[in-house]
Amino acid sequence: MAQFFLFDHPLIQHKISILRDKNTSTKEFRELVHEISMLMAYEVTRDLPLTEKVIETPVATTTAKVLAGKKVALVPILRAGLGMVDGMLAIIPSAKVGHIGLYRDPNTLKPVEYYCKLPEDITEREVIVLDPMLATGGSSSAAIQFLKDRGIKNIKFVCLISAPEGIERLQKDHPDVSVFCAAKDEKLNDHAYIIPGLGDAGDRLFGTN
Ligand code: PRP
Ligand code: URA
Repeated sequence: MAQFFLFDHPLIQHKISILRDKNTSTKEFRELVHEISMLMAYEVTRDLPLTEKVIETPVATTTAKVLAGKKVALVPILRAGLGMVDGMLAIIPSAKVGHIGLYRDPNTLKPVEYYCKLPEDITEREVIVLDPMLATGGSSSAAIQFLKDRGIKNIKFVCLISAPEGIERLQKDHPDVSVFCAAKDEKLNDHAYIIPGLGDAGDRLFGTN
């Protein structure tokens, strides 16, 4: 059963507030996205299965818990999802990484796909889709559908800032996908930007506008 997780950890909330500030530099923004993603990875991977293994410590033999070897794949939605990859990899270093390129057409606000490259064994992996922003939910819903069309069943979605409209859309389109957010904001404006949000995540990460 899919769930919705909102992170209330003070460190995450503090870092999200700096991220929102329009005076935060590109360098600092990038570092914060990295740090927040790393902190979120801890909770996102909470249900990874464990198995037992006999090991020798310097003083005794013991049965210890180790990860059962469930394989993970990270799939950032280009561009802005790229900013979350290294932080996640710091905690899940053996994950493979696939990429989906989507942009939101500024006139129709509909997602347009322009790139897709996924690990060959992705259907055997637990897939964590990454995008800092969940606004209308159009991009993330399309990316998840795209993965499902390729036979991928086990999917989680991780974002930094979400709008109620996007959460509702994802829960309706993909009730099987658990959603992890660092913040749930108030609403979308007339251009489907999240209010208060942080502006355009891709532009702030890469210094474009
Ligand atoms: C942003 C963001 C999401 C999307 C969210 O990407 O990174 O992918 O908008 O909006 P939605 O929930 O309404 O679809 P954008 O389309 O600006 O592309 P970019 O990452 O290349 O800047
Ligand atoms: N995409 C962004 O980068 N920011 C928003 O507020 C909405 C969509």
